[in-house]
Order: sequence, then structure tokens, then C-alpha cells
Amino acid sequence: MLSLRNVSKSYRKGEVKAVDDLTLEVPPGEIFGFLGPNGAGKTTTIKMVVGLLRPDTGTITVDGVDVARDPVKAKRRIGYCPDYPDLYEKLTGLEYLNFIGDVFGVPTETRRRIVGELLEMFSLQDALTDLIQTYSHGMKQKLAVIAAVMPDPALLILDEPMTGLDPKSSALFKDLMRRRCDAGKAVFFSTHILDVAERVCDRVGIINRGRLVAQGTMEELRAMARGQDTLERIFLELTEESEG
Ligand SMILES: Nc1ncnc2c1ncn2[C@@H]1O[C@H](COP(=O)(O)OP(=O)(O)O)[C@@H](O)[C@H]1O
Ligand SMILES: [Mg+2]
Repeated sequence: MLSLRNVSKSYRKGEVKAVDDLTLEVPPGEIFGFLGPNGAGKTTTIKMVVGLLRPDTGTITVDGVDVARDPVKAKRRIGYCPDYPDLYEKLTGLEYLNFIGDVFGVPTETRRRIVGELLEMFSLQDALTDLIQTYSHGMKQKLAVIAAVMPDPALLILDEPMTGLDPKSSALFKDLMRRRCDAGKAVFFSTHILDVAERVCDRVGIINRGRLVAQGTMEELRAMARGQDTLERIFLELTEESEG
């Protein structure tokens, strides 16, 4: 569903190598967690996948579509929730969702169903007719997640979604992601929170200083990290080793 081949990206004319020869594959049906400390290169990677940044080298395909060669076709397959969603603050939540629904041509029935279900899940019903500028960061992130899911994309990409979600919402959200993946779609989300990755993902890729230092299921990662039993230990060990 998502494939990155030897993708690199530097900022400031090569001074900062944010993503360094990254290769990874997310098959349909999978919730993939992209885990790494702050500054590891997660957001940069995501921005390249969604077409906001151009890789220096390498290729990215979404559902078989090359993001650089066929950007519009690729974007039709993606739902994206950024780390700090930039929403139209002068619209109400409802107006915003209708706007997104119009842009993506989401049929009214689908719109009602998905929005109704998610609003309830996120306890956002009461705020729907308030202006977005009155929302907290968490509320904005929830609204942005709904907007990303509404067009029913093959690949859902979420940049640190759990920072704005309380435990109840994130548990419900996990179920939603699971159902989407069981229907052959895929979810790619970044987090610096180990616990979230451990609870939510089928497979995890650990990124440190722009490089993928490990990937696999929790069991595989545990085996790699010499029997350490929590992801935290594994994570620390892997990110320490790659700094040496
Ligand atoms: N616009 C930018 N200009 C220069 N450096 C940047 C820019 N954005 C990110 N970086 C640097 O690139 C590296 C990776 O950042 P980022 O992709 O945001 O990591 P993460 O999302 O994992 O926290 C960091 O060293 C960061 O300081
Ligand atoms: Mg980030």
C-alpha cells in the first residue's frame, strides 16, 4: 500500500540530513507505527509521502501510484492528518467537514455515517456548530482526523495523532483503524510515544537520526533486542546503538 525506496531528504543545502536512505513497505491490512524520538525524521518522511516535500533521492508509491510522477492520483488515495492541523478557523466544525466532503466528492450518505460515528467517538458533537478558532488543540486534531477519514482513503496517514487524543478516544480510534485495515486498507502513523506504538500497531519501524534502525512485529523486535521485554528497553537500546 505504501512503499518507500532509498528515500533521502536534507534541509539547508545538505547541512541537516533529516531522512537518510529510508526503505520500507506497508502492506494492505496493516497498522504501521513509525516510532522515533523528536527530530528523528518522522514528519519529514510523512510530508514527502503526502507530496508536501520532494525527496532529494528515492521513490515513493502509494497503492502503486508514484507520488512524484502522479501526485494528484496519489493524493486521492491518501487521508492525511498533520501534527499541527491548519484548519479554516472562521468556519464551524460542520462547515469544515462539509467543505472537505465537497472537495473530495464524498456522497452525503457516507458523509453522514462516517461523521456521525466519529463525532460520537470523539465526543465532538456539541462543538460542531462552534467556530474552529474556539477549539483546543485536541479538538482540532480530532476534527482533522475525521476530515482525513471521511473520504475513506486507502492509506490513512497520521502524524502524532495520539498527542491530541485522550485514552478513551484513542482506544476507540484504534478499533476504527483496525476495521479499516481488516477491509484491506492501511494506516501509517508516527509517534514518539512507545506505549502507543506497542498497543496500537501490527508492525513498528524505529527511526533514529533519519535512518530506519529496526522494523518488525513486537515479537521480532523483542528477539532482536536480546530478550528485553518492553518496547521502551528495545527502543532505548536501538536508538543508543545507532548513535555510536
Ligand atoms: N524546515 C526545516 N528546516 C531545517 N531543518 C528542519 C526542518 N524541518 C525539520 N528539520 C530538521 O530535520 C530533522 C527531522 O525533523 P522532523 O522530520 O520534524 O522529525 P520528527 O517529526 O521525527 O520530530 C530535525 O533535525 C529537524 O530539526
Ligand atoms: Mg514530527
